[in-house]
Amino acid sequence: MKIARFSRIGFILATTGSAVGLGNIWKFPYIAGEYGGGAFVLVYLLTVLMIGFSIMIAEMLIGYIGRKDGVTSFEELASKNKHLWKFAGFQGLAGLLIMTFYSVVIGWIFHYVVTSLTSLPSSVAQAETTFMSMLNSGMWTQLFYHTVAFVWITYVLTRGIKGGIEKMNIILMPTLMIILLGMFAYATTLNSFSQAVDFMFTPDWSKIDSTAFITAVGHAFFTLSLGMGAIMTYSASMEKNSNLVKNAFWVVFLDTFIAIIAGLMLFTFLYQYGSGPAKGPGLVFISLPAAFYEMGIIGNIFAVIFFIALAFAGLTSSVSLVEPMVQYFIDRFNWSRVKASISMGLFFYLIGIISLLSNIDGFKETLSWGEKNFFDWMDYITAGIMLPLGGLLMAIFVGYVIEKQRVESILKPQLGFAFETWYFSLRYIVPVAMFVVMLNLIGVI
Ligand code: PHE
Repeated sequence: MKIARFSRIGFILATTGSAVGLGNIWKFPYIAGEYGGGAFVLVYLLTVLMIGFSIMIAEMLIGYIGRKDGVTSFEELASKNKHLWKFAGFQGLAGLLIMTFYSVVIGWIFHYVVTSLTSLPSSVAQAETTFMSMLNSGMWTQLFYHTVAFVWITYVLTRGIKGGIEKMNIILMPTLMIILLGMFAYATTLNSFSQAVDFMFTPDWSKIDSTAFITAVGHAFFTLSLGMGAIMTYSASMEKNSNLVKNAFWVVFLDTFIAIIAGLMLFTFLYQYGSGPAKGPGLVFISLPAAFYEMGIIGNIFAVIFFIALAFAGLTSSVSLVEPMVQYFIDRFNWSRVKASISMGLFFYLIGIISLLSNIDGFKETLSWGEKNFFDWMDYITAGIMLPLGGLLMAIFVGYVIEKQRVESILKPQLGFAFETWYFSLRYIVPVAMFVVMLNLIGVI
Protein backbone atom coordinates (compact mmCIF):
# COMPACT_ATOMS: atom_id res chain seq x y z
CA MET A 1 0.00 0.00 0.00
CA LYS A 2 1.33 3.43 -0.89
CA ILE A 3 1.51 5.66 2.12
CA ALA A 4 -0.19 9.00 1.65
CA ARG A 5 2.06 11.95 2.40
CA PHE A 6 1.36 15.65 2.67
CA SER A 7 2.85 17.90 0.03
CA ARG A 8 5.24 20.47 1.48
CA ILE A 9 2.73 23.28 1.44
CA GLY A 10 0.01 20.83 2.48
CA PHE A 11 2.00 19.93 5.56
CA ILE A 12 2.60 23.53 6.55
CA LEU A 13 -1.03 24.46 6.03
CA ALA A 14 -2.36 21.41 7.84
CA THR A 15 -0.04 21.89 10.79
CA THR A 16 -0.78 25.60 10.90
CA GLY A 17 -4.45 24.63 10.63
CA SER A 18 -3.98 22.51 13.70
CA ALA A 19 -2.21 25.25 15.61
CA VAL A 20 -4.48 28.11 14.61
CA GLY A 21 -7.74 27.35 16.31
CA LEU A 22 -10.20 28.49 18.90
CA GLY A 23 -7.13 28.95 21.05
CA ASN A 24 -5.99 31.89 18.94
CA ILE A 25 -9.23 33.69 18.29
CA TRP A 26 -11.53 32.72 21.14
CA LYS A 27 -9.25 31.88 24.05
CA PHE A 28 -6.18 34.08 23.63
CA PRO A 29 -7.97 37.45 23.54
CA TYR A 30 -10.10 36.68 26.57
CA ILE A 31 -7.31 35.33 28.73
CA ALA A 32 -5.06 38.20 27.65
CA GLY A 33 -7.96 40.47 28.64
CA GLU A 34 -8.42 38.73 31.97
CA TYR A 35 -4.78 39.10 32.90
CA GLY A 36 -4.50 42.70 31.87
CA GLY A 37 -2.91 42.47 28.42
CA GLY A 38 0.72 43.45 27.86
CA ALA A 39 2.58 41.56 30.57
CA PHE A 40 0.66 38.38 29.90
CA VAL A 41 1.24 38.68 26.16
CA LEU A 42 4.95 39.06 26.82
CA VAL A 43 5.14 35.95 29.00
CA TYR A 44 3.21 34.04 26.37
CA LEU A 45 5.49 35.25 23.57
CA LEU A 46 8.61 34.35 25.53
CA THR A 47 7.26 30.87 26.27
CA VAL A 48 6.41 30.35 22.63
CA LEU A 49 9.89 31.41 21.58
CA MET A 50 11.96 29.71 24.24
CA ILE A 51 10.00 26.56 24.99
CA GLY A 52 7.33 26.16 22.32
CA PHE A 53 9.61 26.39 19.32
CA SER A 54 12.10 23.87 20.77
CA ILE A 55 9.38 21.36 21.58
CA MET A 56 7.75 21.87 18.19
CA ILE A 57 10.99 20.76 16.52
CA ALA A 58 11.28 17.81 18.94
CA GLU A 59 7.71 16.68 18.39
CA MET A 60 8.09 16.93 14.62
CA LEU A 61 11.27 14.90 14.85
CA ILE A 62 9.61 12.00 16.70
CA GLY A 63 6.87 11.79 14.09
CA TYR A 64 9.25 12.26 11.19
CA ILE A 65 11.62 9.46 12.21
CA GLY A 66 8.92 7.26 13.69
CA ARG A 67 6.61 7.38 10.67
CA LYS A 68 3.84 5.67 12.63
CA ASP A 69 1.13 6.48 15.15
CA GLY A 70 2.40 8.06 18.38
CA VAL A 71 2.40 4.91 20.48
CA THR A 72 4.41 2.93 17.93
CA SER A 73 6.81 5.81 17.30
CA PHE A 74 7.68 6.15 20.98
CA GLU A 75 8.01 2.42 21.35
CA GLU A 76 10.25 1.94 18.34
CA LEU A 77 12.46 4.95 18.88
CA ALA A 78 13.13 4.45 22.57
CA SER A 79 16.62 3.03 23.01
CA LYS A 80 15.63 1.56 26.38
CA ASN A 81 12.42 0.90 28.33
CA LYS A 82 10.39 0.59 25.16
CA HIS A 83 7.34 -0.80 26.91
CA LEU A 84 7.23 2.19 29.24
CA TRP A 85 7.77 4.84 26.60
CA LYS A 86 4.92 3.39 24.65
CA PHE A 87 2.58 5.00 27.15
CA ALA A 88 3.77 8.47 26.20
CA GLY A 89 1.94 7.84 22.95
CA PHE A 90 -1.37 7.73 24.76
CA GLN A 91 -1.13 11.50 24.98
CA GLY A 92 -3.36 11.22 21.95
CA LEU A 93 -6.22 10.70 24.37
CA ALA A 94 -5.83 14.32 25.46
CA GLY A 95 -6.96 15.28 21.97
CA LEU A 96 -10.20 13.39 22.34
CA LEU A 97 -10.79 14.95 25.73
CA ILE A 98 -10.15 18.42 24.32
CA MET A 99 -12.68 17.63 21.62
CA THR A 100 -15.37 17.05 24.23
CA PHE A 101 -15.56 20.79 24.83
CA TYR A 102 -14.00 22.04 21.59
CA SER A 103 -16.78 20.58 19.49
CA VAL A 104 -19.41 22.18 21.71
CA VAL A 105 -17.77 25.59 21.22
CA ILE A 106 -17.66 25.04 17.45
CA GLY A 107 -21.39 24.36 17.76
CA TRP A 108 -21.92 27.76 19.39
CA ILE A 109 -19.98 29.32 16.53
CA PHE A 110 -22.16 27.65 13.91
CA HIS A 111 -25.18 28.96 15.75
CA TYR A 112 -23.72 32.47 15.71
CA VAL A 113 -22.97 32.28 11.98
CA VAL A 114 -26.65 31.63 11.39
CA THR A 115 -28.12 34.14 13.84
CA SER A 116 -25.69 37.03 13.15
CA LEU A 117 -26.99 37.33 9.64
CA THR A 118 -30.35 38.57 10.76
CA SER A 119 -30.00 39.81 14.29
CA LEU A 120 -27.30 41.28 16.44
CA PRO A 121 -27.80 42.29 20.06
CA SER A 122 -28.19 46.03 20.54
CA SER A 123 -26.30 46.16 23.82
CA VAL A 124 -23.78 44.17 25.78
CA ALA A 125 -26.49 43.37 28.33
CA GLN A 126 -28.73 41.98 25.64
CA ALA A 127 -25.83 40.06 24.09
CA GLU A 128 -25.14 38.55 27.45
CA THR A 129 -28.73 37.43 27.88
CA THR A 130 -28.73 35.85 24.42
CA PHE A 131 -25.48 34.02 25.03
CA MET A 132 -26.36 32.87 28.53
CA SER A 133 -29.76 31.62 27.48
CA MET A 134 -28.18 29.57 24.69
CA LEU A 135 -25.55 28.29 27.10
CA ASN A 136 -27.82 27.48 30.01
CA SER A 137 -31.06 26.50 28.36
CA GLY A 138 -30.45 26.04 24.64
CA MET A 139 -29.91 22.33 24.95
CA TRP A 140 -31.38 21.30 21.61
CA THR A 141 -29.72 24.10 19.70
CA GLN A 142 -26.34 23.17 21.13
CA LEU A 143 -26.95 19.51 20.58
CA PHE A 144 -27.90 20.12 16.97
CA TYR A 145 -24.76 22.11 16.19
CA HIS A 146 -22.52 19.80 18.18
CA THR A 147 -23.86 17.04 15.93
CA VAL A 148 -23.10 19.06 12.81
CA ALA A 149 -19.53 19.57 14.03
CA PHE A 150 -19.17 15.86 14.78
CA VAL A 151 -20.41 14.86 11.32
CA TRP A 152 -18.15 17.35 9.53
CA ILE A 153 -15.02 16.41 11.46
CA THR A 154 -15.63 12.68 11.20
CA TYR A 155 -16.30 12.91 7.48
CA VAL A 156 -13.01 14.72 6.82
CA LEU A 157 -11.15 12.12 8.87
CA THR A 158 -12.65 9.25 6.92
CA ARG A 159 -11.21 10.81 3.73
CA GLY A 160 -7.67 10.48 5.02
CA ILE A 161 -4.50 12.56 4.95
CA LYS A 162 -4.58 13.66 1.32
CA GLY A 163 -8.22 13.75 0.31
CA GLY A 164 -9.51 14.86 3.70
CA ILE A 165 -7.08 16.69 5.95
CA GLU A 166 -4.81 18.26 3.35
CA LYS A 167 -7.64 19.24 1.05
CA MET A 168 -9.67 20.86 3.81
CA ASN A 169 -6.70 22.86 5.06
CA ILE A 170 -5.66 24.00 1.59
CA ILE A 171 -9.10 25.52 1.13
CA LEU A 172 -9.94 26.76 4.61
CA MET A 173 -6.62 28.12 5.88
CA PRO A 174 -5.97 30.69 3.12
CA THR A 175 -9.61 31.76 3.34
CA LEU A 176 -9.29 32.20 7.08
CA MET A 177 -6.13 34.27 6.69
CA ILE A 178 -7.68 36.51 4.07
CA ILE A 179 -10.73 37.16 6.26
CA LEU A 180 -8.64 37.96 9.31
CA LEU A 181 -6.22 40.18 7.42
CA GLY A 182 -9.10 42.02 5.78
CA MET A 183 -10.79 42.68 9.10
CA PHE A 184 -7.49 43.61 10.66
CA ALA A 185 -6.81 46.12 7.88
CA TYR A 186 -10.18 47.70 8.59
CA ALA A 187 -9.42 47.82 12.32
CA THR A 188 -6.16 49.72 11.70
CA THR A 189 -8.19 52.57 10.20
CA LEU A 190 -10.17 53.09 13.41
CA ASN A 191 -9.13 55.54 16.15
CA SER A 192 -9.12 52.91 18.82
CA PHE A 193 -6.45 50.85 17.11
CA SER A 194 -3.70 52.55 19.09
CA GLN A 195 -5.54 51.81 22.33
CA ALA A 196 -5.60 48.13 21.39
CA VAL A 197 -1.87 48.22 20.64
CA ASP A 198 -1.24 49.83 24.01
CA PHE A 199 -3.35 47.26 25.78
CA MET A 200 -1.59 44.35 24.18
CA PHE A 201 1.96 45.58 24.30
CA THR A 202 2.35 47.76 27.37
CA PRO A 203 3.13 45.38 30.21
CA ASP A 204 1.45 45.93 33.54
CA TRP A 205 3.41 43.59 35.78
CA SER A 206 1.06 44.05 38.71
CA LYS A 207 -1.42 41.81 36.89
CA ILE A 208 0.99 38.91 36.65
CA ASP A 209 0.87 36.36 39.42
CA SER A 210 1.68 32.68 39.31
CA THR A 211 -1.73 31.78 37.90
CA ALA A 212 -1.25 34.21 35.05
CA PHE A 213 2.15 32.72 34.43
CA ILE A 214 0.86 29.14 34.34
CA THR A 215 -2.01 30.15 32.13
CA ALA A 216 0.42 31.75 29.68
CA VAL A 217 2.62 28.65 29.60
CA GLY A 218 -0.36 26.31 29.29
CA HIS A 219 -1.75 28.44 26.53
CA ALA A 220 1.52 28.40 24.61
CA PHE A 221 1.24 24.59 24.48
CA PHE A 222 -2.42 24.63 23.63
CA THR A 223 -2.14 27.16 20.85
CA LEU A 224 0.83 25.43 19.23
CA SER A 225 -0.96 22.06 19.47
CA LEU A 226 2.00 20.69 21.40
CA GLY A 227 2.21 17.80 23.79
CA MET A 228 -0.57 15.53 22.59
CA GLY A 229 0.71 14.08 19.37
CA ALA A 230 -1.15 16.13 16.76
CA ILE A 231 2.07 17.60 15.40
CA MET A 232 3.78 14.23 15.72
CA THR A 233 1.05 12.39 13.84
CA TYR A 234 1.02 14.92 11.00
CA SER A 235 4.81 14.80 10.87
CA ALA A 236 4.67 11.06 10.31
CA SER A 237 3.23 11.95 6.91
CA MET A 238 5.77 14.66 6.12
CA GLU A 239 7.63 14.35 2.79
CA LYS A 240 11.04 12.71 2.94
CA ASN A 241 13.95 15.16 3.18
CA SER A 242 11.82 17.90 4.66
CA ASN A 243 13.38 20.70 6.61
CA LEU A 244 11.84 20.33 10.06
CA VAL A 245 13.26 23.53 11.42
CA LYS A 246 11.83 25.60 8.59
CA ASN A 247 8.47 23.89 8.91
CA ALA A 248 8.41 24.40 12.67
CA PHE A 249 9.36 28.02 12.20
CA TRP A 250 6.49 28.68 9.81
CA VAL A 251 3.94 27.05 12.04
CA VAL A 252 5.08 28.90 15.15
CA PHE A 253 5.33 32.16 13.25
CA LEU A 254 1.92 31.93 11.60
CA ASP A 255 0.21 30.82 14.79
CA THR A 256 1.65 33.69 16.78
CA PHE A 257 1.04 36.19 14.00
CA ILE A 258 -2.62 35.19 13.76
CA ALA A 259 -3.14 35.34 17.52
CA ILE A 260 -1.72 38.86 17.61
CA ILE A 261 -3.68 40.03 14.57
CA ALA A 262 -6.91 38.57 15.95
CA GLY A 263 -6.28 40.08 19.37
CA LEU A 264 -5.53 43.55 17.99
CA MET A 265 -8.56 43.44 15.73
CA LEU A 266 -10.94 42.29 18.46
CA PHE A 267 -9.69 44.79 21.03
CA THR A 268 -9.91 47.62 18.50
CA PHE A 269 -13.55 46.79 17.82
CA LEU A 270 -14.26 46.44 21.49
CA TYR A 271 -12.69 49.80 22.36
CA GLN A 272 -14.26 51.54 19.41
CA TYR A 273 -17.78 50.19 19.60
CA GLY A 274 -18.15 48.21 22.72
CA SER A 275 -17.19 47.88 26.27
CA GLY A 276 -13.42 47.48 26.13
CA PRO A 277 -11.67 44.17 26.70
CA ALA A 278 -14.56 42.61 28.60
CA LYS A 279 -13.62 39.55 30.49
CA GLY A 280 -14.29 35.87 30.20
CA PRO A 281 -15.04 33.22 27.59
CA GLY A 282 -18.04 35.24 26.43
CA LEU A 283 -15.74 37.82 24.83
CA VAL A 284 -16.32 36.85 21.21
CA PHE A 285 -19.89 35.76 21.87
CA ILE A 286 -21.03 38.70 23.98
CA SER A 287 -18.95 41.84 23.67
CA LEU A 288 -18.09 41.35 20.04
CA PRO A 289 -21.62 40.91 18.61
CA ALA A 290 -22.66 44.03 20.53
CA ALA A 291 -19.74 45.89 18.96
CA PHE A 292 -20.70 44.62 15.51
CA TYR A 293 -24.22 45.92 16.08
CA GLU A 294 -22.87 49.45 16.49
CA MET A 295 -21.32 49.26 13.02
CA GLY A 296 -24.71 49.06 11.34
CA ILE A 297 -25.38 46.73 8.44
CA ILE A 298 -21.69 46.19 7.72
CA GLY A 299 -21.57 44.81 11.24
CA ASN A 300 -23.87 41.95 10.28
CA ILE A 301 -21.64 41.08 7.36
CA PHE A 302 -18.53 41.33 9.52
CA ALA A 303 -20.12 39.17 12.19
CA VAL A 304 -21.08 36.40 9.79
CA ILE A 305 -17.67 36.40 8.10
CA PHE A 306 -15.90 36.51 11.44
CA PHE A 307 -17.80 33.54 12.83
CA ILE A 308 -17.22 31.61 9.61
CA ALA A 309 -13.48 32.22 9.98
CA LEU A 310 -13.67 31.14 13.59
CA ALA A 311 -15.50 27.96 12.63
CA PHE A 312 -12.84 27.20 10.00
CA ALA A 313 -10.10 27.69 12.58
CA GLY A 314 -11.87 25.33 14.95
CA LEU A 315 -12.59 22.63 12.38
CA THR A 316 -9.04 22.41 11.06
CA SER A 317 -7.76 22.05 14.63
CA SER A 318 -10.40 19.46 15.44
CA VAL A 319 -9.31 16.99 12.80
CA SER A 320 -5.78 17.16 14.20
CA LEU A 321 -7.10 16.52 17.70
CA VAL A 322 -8.76 13.30 16.65
CA GLU A 323 -6.29 12.05 14.02
CA PRO A 324 -3.66 10.72 16.49
CA MET A 325 -6.08 8.18 17.95
CA VAL A 326 -7.49 7.37 14.50
CA GLN A 327 -3.95 6.66 13.32
CA TYR A 328 -3.35 4.55 16.40
CA PHE A 329 -6.24 2.23 15.69
CA ILE A 330 -5.31 2.01 12.01
CA ASP A 331 -1.65 1.19 12.69
CA ARG A 332 -1.98 -1.04 15.72
CA PHE A 333 -5.28 -2.79 15.21
CA ASN A 334 -5.56 -2.72 11.46
CA TRP A 335 -8.87 -0.92 11.62
CA SER A 336 -10.08 0.67 8.43
CA ARG A 337 -9.88 4.46 8.39
CA VAL A 338 -13.64 4.71 8.24
CA LYS A 339 -14.13 2.51 11.27
CA ALA A 340 -11.42 4.29 13.27
CA SER A 341 -12.73 7.76 12.36
CA ILE A 342 -16.32 6.98 13.23
CA SER A 343 -15.40 5.30 16.51
CA MET A 344 -13.18 8.16 17.65
CA GLY A 345 -15.79 10.64 16.45
CA LEU A 346 -18.48 8.94 18.48
CA PHE A 347 -16.21 8.90 21.51
CA PHE A 348 -15.80 12.67 21.64
CA TYR A 349 -19.35 13.27 20.46
CA LEU A 350 -20.95 11.29 23.26
CA ILE A 351 -18.70 12.58 26.03
CA GLY A 352 -19.14 16.02 24.48
CA ILE A 353 -22.82 15.76 25.29
CA ILE A 354 -21.89 15.59 28.97
CA SER A 355 -19.81 18.77 28.53
CA LEU A 356 -22.74 20.41 26.86
CA LEU A 357 -25.20 19.35 29.54
CA SER A 358 -22.89 20.52 32.29
CA ASN A 359 -23.74 24.09 31.28
CA ILE A 360 -27.48 23.46 31.16
CA ASP A 361 -29.71 24.46 34.08
CA GLY A 362 -30.98 21.40 35.80
CA PHE A 363 -27.94 19.28 34.93
CA LYS A 364 -25.30 21.74 35.99
CA GLU A 365 -25.30 20.86 39.70
CA THR A 366 -24.96 17.12 39.12
CA LEU A 367 -22.19 17.65 36.58
CA SER A 368 -20.01 19.97 38.66
CA TRP A 369 -17.26 19.10 41.05
CA GLY A 370 -15.67 21.79 43.16
CA GLU A 371 -16.03 25.10 41.43
CA LYS A 372 -15.79 23.64 37.92
CA ASN A 373 -18.34 21.89 35.80
CA PHE A 374 -17.46 18.99 33.50
CA PHE A 375 -16.79 21.36 30.58
CA ASP A 376 -14.28 23.42 32.59
CA TRP A 377 -12.66 20.34 34.08
CA MET A 378 -11.94 18.97 30.60
CA ASP A 379 -10.33 22.25 29.62
CA TYR A 380 -8.31 22.39 32.82
CA ILE A 381 -7.13 18.77 32.79
CA THR A 382 -6.06 18.87 29.15
CA ALA A 383 -4.68 22.36 28.58
CA GLY A 384 -3.50 22.82 32.15
CA ILE A 385 -1.99 19.41 32.88
CA MET A 386 -1.89 16.89 30.03
CA LEU A 387 -0.38 19.08 27.32
CA PRO A 388 2.45 20.55 29.40
CA LEU A 389 3.17 17.07 30.74
CA GLY A 390 3.15 15.65 27.21
CA GLY A 391 5.48 18.40 26.05
CA LEU A 392 7.84 17.63 28.89
CA LEU A 393 7.85 13.93 27.99
CA MET A 394 8.69 14.76 24.40
CA ALA A 395 11.54 17.03 25.42
CA ILE A 396 12.97 14.33 27.67
CA PHE A 397 12.48 11.69 25.02
CA VAL A 398 14.36 13.61 22.34
CA GLY A 399 16.88 15.08 24.79
CA TYR A 400 17.78 11.87 26.66
CA VAL A 401 16.22 8.76 25.18
CA ILE A 402 16.77 8.81 21.42
CA GLU A 403 20.48 8.46 20.62
CA LYS A 404 22.07 11.82 20.10
CA GLN A 405 23.67 10.82 16.77
CA ARG A 406 20.29 10.06 15.37
CA VAL A 407 18.94 13.44 16.37
CA GLU A 408 22.12 15.13 15.19
CA SER A 409 22.16 13.45 11.82
CA ILE A 410 18.84 15.01 10.95
CA LEU A 411 18.86 18.29 12.78
CA LYS A 412 22.50 19.40 12.74
CA PRO A 413 22.44 20.23 9.03
CA GLN A 414 19.21 22.15 9.54
CA LEU A 415 20.00 23.97 12.75
CA GLY A 416 23.71 24.52 12.15
CA PHE A 417 25.47 26.15 15.07
CA ALA A 418 22.14 26.51 16.89
CA PHE A 419 21.91 22.74 17.27
CA GLU A 420 23.71 22.63 20.62
CA THR A 421 21.64 25.48 21.99
CA TRP A 422 18.45 23.73 21.01
CA TYR A 423 19.65 20.43 22.45
CA PHE A 424 20.67 22.11 25.67
CA SER A 425 17.32 23.81 25.98
CA LEU A 426 15.50 20.48 25.51
CA ARG A 427 17.64 18.75 28.10
CA TYR A 428 17.78 21.44 30.76
CA ILE A 429 15.71 24.55 30.20
CA VAL A 430 12.44 22.91 29.18
CA PRO A 431 12.42 20.29 31.98
CA VAL A 432 13.29 22.83 34.67
CA ALA A 433 10.69 25.29 33.44
CA MET A 434 8.05 22.58 33.23
CA PHE A 435 8.94 21.27 36.64
CA VAL A 436 8.36 24.68 38.15
CA VAL A 437 5.04 24.89 36.32
CA MET A 438 4.00 21.49 37.68
CA LEU A 439 4.97 22.38 41.23
CA ASN A 440 2.94 25.48 40.97
CA LEU A 441 0.02 23.58 39.57
CA ILE A 442 -0.15 21.22 42.49
CA GLY A 443 0.21 24.11 44.85
CA VAL A 444 3.71 23.45 46.24
CA ILE A 445 5.04 26.84 45.22
N1 PHE B 1 -3.99 24.58 18.76
C1 PHE B 1 -5.41 24.49 18.81
C2 PHE B 1 -5.98 25.85 19.15
O1 PHE B 1 -5.27 26.80 19.31
C3 PHE B 1 -5.90 23.45 19.78
C4 PHE B 1 -5.17 22.17 19.73
C5 PHE B 1 -4.49 21.72 20.83
C6 PHE B 1 -5.14 21.42 18.54
C7 PHE B 1 -3.76 20.53 20.81
C8 PHE B 1 -4.42 20.24 18.49
C9 PHE B 1 -3.74 19.81 19.61
O2 PHE B 1 -7.17 26.00 19.26
